[in-house]
Amino acid sequence: MDAFSSSFMSTLSPPTIIPKPILTPFSSRLNISSVRIEDKPATQVTSTTTTTPQSPSTTSSSAVPKRRAEPSVLTLIFNAFDDIINKFIDPPSKPSVDPTHVLSNNFAPVDELPPTECEVIQGSLPPCLDGAYIRNGPNPQYLPRGPYHLCDGDGMLHSIKISQGRAIFCSRYVNTNKYIAERDAGSSLVPNFFSGFNGLTASAARGALFAVRILAGQYNPANGIGLANTSLAFFGDRLYALCESDLPYAVRLTSNGDIETIGRHDFDGKLFMSMTAHPKTDPDTKETFAFRYGLVPPFLTYFRFDSDGSKQPDVPIFSMTRQSFLHDFAITNKYAIFGDIQIAMIPTEMIFGGGSPFGYDPNKVPRLGVIPRYAKDESEMRWFNVPGVQHPTRNQCLGRGRWQHNSDGGTKCTIG
Ligand SMILES: [Fe+2]
Repeated sequence: MDAFSSSFMSTLSPPTIIPKPILTPFSSRLNISSVRIEDKPATQVTSTTTTTPQSPSTTSSSAVPKRRAEPSVLTLIFNAFDDIINKFIDPPSKPSVDPTHVLSNNFAPVDELPPTECEVIQGSLPPCLDGAYIRNGPNPQYLPRGPYHLCDGDGMLHSIKISQGRAIFCSRYVNTNKYIAERDAGSSLVPNFFSGFNGLTASAARGALFAVRILAGQYNPANGIGLANTSLAFFGDRLYALCESDLPYAVRLTSNGDIETIGRHDFDGKLFMSMTAHPKTDPDTKETFAFRYGLVPPFLTYFRFDSDGSKQPDVPIFSMTRQSFLHDFAITNKYAIFGDIQIAMIPTEMIFGGGSPFGYDPNKVPRLGVIPRYAKDESEMRWFNVPGVQHPTRNQCLGRGRWQHNSDGGTKCTIG
């Protein structure tokens, strides 16, 4: 996972003139100090900044801070059971899953920030600059009551929109099904996937409690369980917040620099369940290539989107014979390439092992799978053993796609 590394540069459509705000004497360089007081981690959060005053002209109606709902009596009862699990059955015993450690200091969660103008403190922004930088990352809506892994946080987008010599900063949650349900309930509802299933007893307890919440109508997993916290991708003229456990969420940047969630996108019903957070878009053809992987056969499914974002039929890969951590892949101008690496997905490990669904298997021979990028089935797919890749840090995932060179009449493909 690279939940803190995602970013995206977007070209904006027609700029809208934003009236110059009135900056008060307290205006200074951009500062953010919006850690929620009620959910503040137990450890001291160091903050040396102050918040830049808001400009009425750059604060949309949606920017009004949302009051979180008060938990119902039923929610409080369920939370009491959750507290028992977190205190007596599976407390966060390791620093790596202790929220007071994981979410301390610079990693402390922050609240949403409406569009806020940044003061230029040196030089000026060239008027020809017209676009936005947006990043995605996990930022839990509620301070976790039990074990928490960095990748368990709700997706939050941070943007800096630069236009007409001005820079507007904004932070917004992706309004996923999970985020909305938990916001409306005034409480977290969904167990943390990466840290909440640690051993048989904890897994059974949290699984049972979540099932009861579903039966009580607090949460509908059919509408998605994803966090949309991993990356951003722009294709088919739409911007998506992505997480490989769910469908993409379409989002957009408004003319005043706010970030809005359009909704969970299934591409006219053609995209099933989930999709990689790292699709690859061909800069020449504008086609986008993607896949999903999972716990049940086919363990790998390849597909692509036309330049207009129309999803093409799935290509199930049954020659992928076991679950594997296929977080990323690569494309060339002829092929798509997948890494069947030594990091295996072992769901039973969550229940009977050390709690992580991902495990290093030194006995597994890593493979590279190569399939023509316009394949309609896997008949032309070839797998190559690459036993030289032995160390787990060397086969995290396939990194970035590399182009294919044919200048000497041959074929060269470089995988990063
Ligand atoms: Fe990643």
